[in-house]
Amino acid sequence: MNLIKMASNENPYGPSPRAVAAMRAVLAECNFYPDNDATELQARLAKLYQVQPEQVVVAAGLTALLETIARTLLLPGLNAITSERSFIVYPIATRAAGGQLIEVPMHDNGFDLDAIAAAIDRYTRIVFLANPNNPTGSMVPAHEVDRFLQKIPAHVMVVLDEAYYDFAQHFAGLRGVDYSHSLDYVRHNHNVVVLRTFSKTHGLAGVRVGYGVGPAEFISSLAHMRTIFSVSVLAQAAAMAAIEDEAHIRQTIENNAAQAEVLVRAMSDLGYHVAPTWANFLYCELRGDAPSVARRMQAAGVAILPLGAYGAPTAIRVTIGTPEQNEIFVNAFRKVMAHATVR
Ligand SMILES: Cc1ncc(COP(=O)(O)O)c(C=O)c1O
Repeated sequence: MNLIKMASNENPYGPSPRAVAAMRAVLAECNFYPDNDATELQARLAKLYQVQPEQVVVAAGLTALLETIARTLLLPGLNAITSERSFIVYPIATRAAGGQLIEVPMHDNGFDLDAIAAAIDRYTRIVFLANPNNPTGSMVPAHEVDRFLQKIPAHVMVVLDEAYYDFAQHFAGLRGVDYSHSLDYVRHNHNVVVLRTFSKTHGLAGVRVGYGVGPAEFISSLAHMRTIFSVSVLAQAAAMAAIEDEAHIRQTIENNAAQAEVLVRAMSDLGYHVAPTWANFLYCELRGDAPSVARRMQAAGVAILPLGAYGAPTAIRVTIGTPEQNEIFVNAFRKVMAHATVR
């Protein structure tokens, strides 16, 4: 049986076809080490965002970049702050760097920025803000981030993790909300580093490429701390092509928004509460044994994520799939839940 992958927030529509062609075209150059600075991609991103190339660092995915950021800024005795039920790499990266992670309680399944600002002390070096948040799918609108940044002391770097930027921006347009002007913070020299990835809308999770945009001095220290030659020849070629593949990006974000609605309605009709999403996944509180539901869903051919490791032992996260995948998911979920002791 072919397992339908709805557990890792990947792109169900496949990689950008232009990226696939670009990777094929450079296969014969794979005997050479890659350009360590990904100079061409760095320049392309700088032009796109109207910043200096020195303000852009390319990495082998955001997971690697988050670890580099933590290693650059933290030491034993120092701390980073984020929200509870946020991205699982923040605790891993913080602890690997010897720092302490302070996880602030949520407000309504989302980041409580006032509480995070209040938790900052003189040992704090990082605030991780996932916007939208993984796994709850929540979003903090631009005016709240503006207000938050005014309270941040100079010794703290705010990591604005916008891995799901394109999805959120599209939802914001549909919903008439001002989501993010994160790059303006960088242009106006705030202590902010904005993170984006090619893993989601561009469909390149298996290739590993993402980037940070921030203050030139900080970006230069990250570039020195990251693993040499980690962004492969294939990854650089794929990213360069995927940026230009507007048709693939548009198809992904439009389908995602339409299918989010279909899936939320189907799960609500079955009697489950699904949090409003700004990304390509849904957060669903089952109030019961989520790991056993995930196991039975897997046996039925659909992988979903139980959220115990994220601090939500009775909730699941479901990646929004294609129309066909979502239909299979809903049918399997209906059957599994009919026999479950949760609700
Ligand atoms: C909030 C957030 N940041 C970063 C990442 C990791 O992205 P990458 O694939 O570039 O490592 C994810 C992946 O799921 C994520 O949810």
